Amino acid sequence: MKQLITEIQTIKEQCLSALQQATNLDALERTRISFMGRNGSIATLMETLKSKSVEEKRILGPLLNDLKTSCQAAYDAQFDRLSKKTDAAPQSFDVTAYKPNQLYGSLHIYTHIIEQLSAIFTTMGYTIVDGPEVETEHYNFTALNIPHDHPARDMHDTFWLSRHDLLLRTHTSSVQAHAMQQTKPPFGIFAPGRCYRNEATDASHDFMFTQAEGMFVDKNVSMAQLLATSRAFLQAFFEKKDLNIRVRPGYFPFVEPGVEIDATCPFCKNGCSICKKTGWIELLGAGLIHPNVLRESGIDPEIYNGFALGMGIERLAMIKYGINDIRLFHSSNLQFLSQF
Ligand code: PHE
Repeated sequence: MKQLITEIQTIKEQCLSALQQATNLDALERTRISFMGRNGSIATLMETLKSKSVEEKRILGPLLNDLKTSCQAAYDAQFDRLSKKTDAAPQSFDVTAYKPNQLYGSLHIYTHIIEQLSAIFTTMGYTIVDGPEVETEHYNFTALNIPHDHPARDMHDTFWLSRHDLLLRTHTSSVQAHAMQQTKPPFGIFAPGRCYRNEATDASHDFMFTQAEGMFVDKNVSMAQLLATSRAFLQAFFEKKDLNIRVRPGYFPFVEPGVEIDATCPFCKNGCSICKKTGWIELLGAGLIHPNVLRESGIDPEIYNGFALGMGIERLAMIKYGINDIRLFHSSNLQFLSQF
C-alpha cells in the first residue's frame, strides 16, 4: 500500500516534469501517450486499484484522481503554450530553392508580334485601335466598296451569324470605316485583331487567324508614302536594314490602285526553302484607298485621300521564327508556346 502511494507520487512528478520539458507538439504527444495514454503508466496504476480492498480504494482512489486531473491540466496548459508558439513563429523557407520540373509562364507569340508591330507603328505616329470581331455586313463589306452582289464576298468564306446582318469579321479592313467615322483626317491608325473565315484548315490556313490593318488619311497621300512606310516597317520588323520590297498589282475592291507587296527574303541571297527559291516573300496587301470608301464614311475624296495596308500576323511570325504550321498558334503545345 505504502509502496503504491510512493509510486503514484513518483509518476506524478515524472509526468509533470516530462510535460513541462516538451519543447514541441510532437514531444508533448509522445509524453501524453506514455503517461496518460490507454496503455500508459497512469492506466496501469488504475488497473491495480481494481484488486484492492474497499479501505485501500478509499485512500488510493482520491490520490489517483488527483494524479489524473493534475496531469491533464498540465498537459492542456503546455498544449496551449506550444500551439501558440507554432502560430507565432512560422518556419522560414528558401524561396530561391531549386525545384525540378517547374513550369514558367511566358507571353503568347501573338502578344510578342503584336507588341513589336505596334511599337513600330506608334513610333511612326500611328494610333493603335481596336474593332469588333462580331461585325455588321456594312463595316466588313458594304463600306469597303463590296456591295451585295459583288463576287469578292464569295472569296471571303464568311461565317454568318443567325441574326441577319451580323458576321464574324473576315479581315481587319472592317476597322477602316469605324476609324474614318471617329477621327478627322489627318490620321494614321494601326489595328491588330482576330479574323475568321469558313475555310478548311491546313498547315498554312486556319478558320481563325490574326491580321493587322494600317491606314493613313491626309491630303495628297501618294503611293510613294505607302511604299516607304511598308519598307520601313518591314525593315524594322525583320531587323534588316537592307530589306527591299517589290510591288505587284493586286485586286482588293477597297483600294485603287491595289498592290501586293513582297519583301526580299530576310534569310537568303539566292533562294531558300522559306522563299521557295525565289528570293522574295509575299507579305502585304495594300493600295490607295478607293474614293467610294472615303465617301461612304463621310470623307470628301476631292480633298483627302490615303493608303491602307493589311498583313497576316501568323504569316509574319511564321517567317520571322521559322514556324511551319499555323495550327500551333492555337494549340496547347507547351513546348512550342514556351519558346517565346
Ligand atoms: N483586307 C485584305 C485581305 O484580307 C488585305 C488588305 C488590306 C488589302 C488593306 C489592301 C489594303 O486580304
